[in-house]
Amino acid sequence: MLKIGVLVSGRGSNLQAIIDAIDRGAVKAKIELVLSDNPDAYALQRCGKHGIKYDVVERKNFKSRSDFEMSIVGKLMDSGVELVVLAGFMRILGRDFISSYRDRIINIHPSLIPSFQGLHAQRQAVDFGAKFSGCTVHIVDESVDAGPVIVQAVVPVLPEDDEDTLSDKILNWEHKILPQTVQWFSEGRVKLNGRKVVVEGAKYGTLPVNPELEIFG
Ligand code: GRF
Repeated sequence: MLKIGVLVSGRGSNLQAIIDAIDRGAVKAKIELVLSDNPDAYALQRCGKHGIKYDVVERKNFKSRSDFEMSIVGKLMDSGVELVVLAGFMRILGRDFISSYRDRIINIHPSLIPSFQGLHAQRQAVDFGAKFSGCTVHIVDESVDAGPVIVQAVVPVLPEDDEDTLSDKILNWEHKILPQTVQWFSEGRVKLNGRKVVVEGAKYGTLPVNPELEIFG
């Protein structure tokens, strides 16, 4: 059973999606520990309800970012965590953290990276006038929202969409691709070749998302 640690900062709906997928037996993993940098994160209440061990590590209690991060790493390692899942963790990880769990940290980002990195990715997509956006699960490296892509889901951006409606549609896919990725890790199917990820045996669907081109009948 793959031992995972989940880092959160807020609502925790992606954490909930993993909990639910484990509960129904779709994902064979155990959440050993949830860590939050925010004591008020609703995600922690979810842990309480599901009997999941959690802890709060606040940046303000540490002199340096490195001390803060190494405290988190220490807790994850003490719990035997093998895969670290960033599920709405609102901090950029430094080199020491990343090298402690090299290629074993994944993040969910609400855009098709490398488009719309950073905060408010859904608003960026709407404001830019993109016709498609989506979400990405990627391996965390020293870049910000630009590590090797494991899986992406595409969501059309319709003329009537605003940040909220697009966020809802993307979130629906986040809740699918993040638990799926955990399961792929659990099965040992995620292989990294340079910056390219291959998920062994994964099937790729086609989406009927292209526009109708009137001049071609
Ligand atoms: C999600 O949109 C995720 O893609 C982004 O932060 C949000 C977290 O939502 N990284 P939740 O806390 O999982 O509900």
